[in-house]
Parts: sequence; C-alpha cells; structure tokens
Amino acid sequence: MRISILGCGYVGLVTGACLAEVGHEVMCTDHDESKIRTLNEGALPIYEPGLDDIVVRNVAAKRLSFTSNLKEAVRFGDAIFICVGTPPLKGGDADLSAIDSVAHVIAAEADRSKLVVEKSTVPTKTGQKLKRALAIYSRNSGCNFSVASNPEFLREGTAVQDFLHPDRIVVGVEDQNTEVQLREVYRPIIEQSFVCPMHGDDCALRADPPTFLVTSINSAELIKHACNSFLAVKISYANLIADICESMGADVEEVMLAMGLDPRIGPSFIRPGLGFGGFCLPKDIQAFIRMGQKAGVDVSLLQDAEAINKRRVDLFLAKGRHALWVLKGKRIGVLGLAFKPGTDDIRFAPSLELIGKLLEEDAELQVYDPQAMPKTKPLFPSIRYCADPYQVAEGAEALMIVTEWDEFKHLNWERIRDSMARPLILDGRNLLNGEEMVALGFEYLGIGKGTAEAVRLFVQG
Ligand code: UGA
Repeated sequence: MRISILGCGYVGLVTGACLAEVGHEVMCTDHDESKIRTLNEGALPIYEPGLDDIVVRNVAAKRLSFTSNLKEAVRFGDAIFICVGTPPLKGGDADLSAIDSVAHVIAAEADRSKLVVEKSTVPTKTGQKLKRALAIYSRNSGCNFSVASNPEFLREGTAVQDFLHPDRIVVGVEDQNTEVQLREVYRPIIEQSFVCPMHGDDCALRADPPTFLVTSINSAELIKHACNSFLAVKISYANLIADICESMGADVEEVMLAMGLDPRIGPSFIRPGLGFGGFCLPKDIQAFIRMGQKAGVDVSLLQDAEAINKRRVDLFLAKGRHALWVLKGKRIGVLGLAFKPGTDDIRFAPSLELIGKLLEEDAELQVYDPQAMPKTKPLFPSIRYCADPYQVAEGAEALMIVTEWDEFKHLNWERIRDSMARPLILDGRNLLNGEEMVALGFEYLGIGKGTAEAVRLFVQG
C-alpha cells in the first residue's frame, strides 16, 4: 500500500521507516526543511537504536522517501498518517493547530478518496472534529475521507522493537472498510511475517503476535491517554512510597521488589527517582487533566500524580544541599542528561530543571551524557561538557546520577573515587548498589533508602 506520513518526529519517522520495512511504499514529509535535508543526506535527526539501518536500507530499496513538499506527500498515499506534534498550550490543553493545518492541505490536494489516520496523541473527539473539518474543507472536491484513530505505544529508545513487535494494535474506526484497510497496513505485523531487522529469523518476539483491537474512534483516543496517565500514576506512586521509606527507615527497592512480584501490580514502571520526563508522560497527563476537568470529572488523582512528579527535583536538590551545605562555588558532576537512557531526547528531562536550579545557586557544573550533549549545549552553553564520566568526576565534591545509562554502572568506581574532591554520590535513579559504593569508600545517597531522615526534616522546614 502507498502510505504518506505527515510529521517526521520520533513517531512519524519510526512509523514510516517500519511500515516501509514490512513492505509498504512510504513517503514522509515535515515542515522542518532541515530535517528533510538531513534525512535525504542519509543521516537521522534523532538518535533511536536500530532506526538508521532501517532508513538506509528502505531508501536504497526505494520503498521510503522524504520530501519537504507537503502537497506531494498528501497526493502520494492511499492512507495518510498524521504524526504532527500536539505540544501543550499554556493551560495544559493540547495544541491541535498543526492537525487543523494539515487537514486543510489534505482536503485541498487529495486527488482521490483517502484514509486519514490520526497517530498523534490527541484529546478524545478530535477524530470527529477532523472528519468534520475534512468534509467542510473539501466540499467542492468530490473526495471522501474516512478517518481512523491509531494511537502509538512506542517508547523512545525501543521504538523500533515496539513498532514491529507490539503487544497490541488499537484502531478506532467507524466502518468496516476502514478496519479492512488498517488490517492490510498492519498485516505483516499482525502475522509477524517479516524478517525482523533486529533479531533476524531467530527473533523470539515473533512467537507472540499482537492483539488487533478494533474500537470506536473516541475509545481509541482515550485508550492512549488512559495508558500514559496510568504509567505516570504508577511512577508517582513509587515515588510517594520512596519518600515514605526515607522517613520510616525502609528501603524502597525491597518494597518495590515485593510489590512487583504480585502479578496484579507487576514490576514495571515502579522505579522511583527523579520522576517522569520526556515529551509524552508530562504533557499527556496535563492534557488528560484538562480533558477530565472540561468533562466535569474529578481528576484529583491525576493532579496529585503530577504534583508528586514536579517535586522530585526539589527533593533531590534538598538532599544535595543538606550534604554539601552551600552549593555556591562547589564543583558538581552530573551524569546523564537525556530524560531516560537510550535516547538523545532532553524534552522535559529532569536534568534541565536540576541544572537550571544548580546554576541559580552558582554551583560549578561538569556534565556528561552518551547521546544528549549536542541537544543540551545550546541551552546551557556555560557549563563544562566532558568527554567521559571520569572527567565529570575530576575534582567534584559530588556526583549526581540523573539518567540511568547502563554504561554508568560499569565504570571504574575506584578511579572515580580517587579523582573526586569528595567521594559523594547522589544517585537520582538508584542505578548503583549503595552498599557496594559505601564499601568502596563513597558517601552514597540514593532514593527511598531510609537513610535521609534528616534531609526530610530539612526539606519540611
Ligand atoms: C511513553 C510510554 O511509555 C509509551 O508507551 C508511549 O507510547 C509514549 O510515552 C508516547 O506517548 O509516545 P516514553 O516517553 O518514551 O514512552 O518513555 P517511558 O519509558 O514511558 O519513560 C517516561 C519517563 O518515566 C522517563 O523519564 C523515565 O525515566 C521515567 N520512569 C519510567 C520512571 O521514573 N520510573 C519508571 O519505573 C519508569
């Protein structure tokens, strides 16, 4: 099938490349011409493991192309996937202007009837509004548009695997023909009949084909919000337990291990730390709160989850202040800038708030991240960007672990200890084993470790 992808962000690019990989002809476009130029030069504007090989291979096979001409892209596909950004407005509502603007172009340029699929995360009933807008904008063209919602559940860092081996594919449709078309789009994935680009013929993930779930458009839109908000609530719950553990002399890791063994709770998304960042969970919970408020529903559960998340950096900083007393002039090393490992994305990353606040207190910062330094440099040009974690430790009075990159676990910690002015670790992600660090001669402060009663008193006032 010929497929157009409007928007080459994380979602659009992964969707386009993976749909080409499973055999479709795909044309992608973006209003950012420099992004398209980069893609046409054979490079990627983002770091996403495994994506570069898929893009290169499918461009060479002429199944995947990039154009900055939106009209050309609209005319190309039988199905058009809208993957444009829906950033938060000041009050927390999602900004849908990019969707409206592509709807105008789709209606004006389409030379035949087409399937229009919203993949961007949008408030419930957006599909209905999109359908109405397309009908109004195209009233003289004679083209009909069927609209579907097909939310994505891709995690940055594992997006290719999530796309090709999903747990479920959700499609919100209004008629059977649209369902049939979407089944055709996803057939190779539903049947797991493609050669896995990551694991080859031996791919174990193929044994577990996804559920293809057909719902109404409204439900599909809501499913996406309900999932992301639930994940956010889970993380905030873990952070709440971590705070209680600190006050009560318990260890959150032991508590979470036991909780996770209950299959009704499960072990994922209960890691406490600096909280949830990135461009999805923080903005989606805000948008969901606004949706609920507009519907007159009590959303205080979600508001509390958001409020807990917003306090994470301050609580962490309070620990730093307690340990270091005055921060002014103190050299502090920061390990990790990306909002999570496996990505170069720093949008709504806790690191940004932390660095901003440390700079307000005139701390001297040296930082390292395996992927996210180029995106961070323009925001904080005055801090020192290091070549590796060992440089970050040199002469530092504290080392703050902000992103749990696996490589940080396997550093030569004796070397780090010896190069620091004071061997103090503030582990914002509980990446390291605190007891091992103490045995090596570090002062170690993790999250929810029941060792920081004094800090809690200090924070309270
Ligand atoms: C999230 C969802 O997990 C995806 O299912 C969804 O498709 C995506 O948003 C989206 O809406 O596009 P993502 O933003 O890539 O994916 O990142 P997550 O893996 O969900 O992590 C979000 C944040 O939560 C990160 O800052 C991470 O460090 C934090 N986190 C995660 C925790 O603090 N504790 C945990 O136990 C898990």
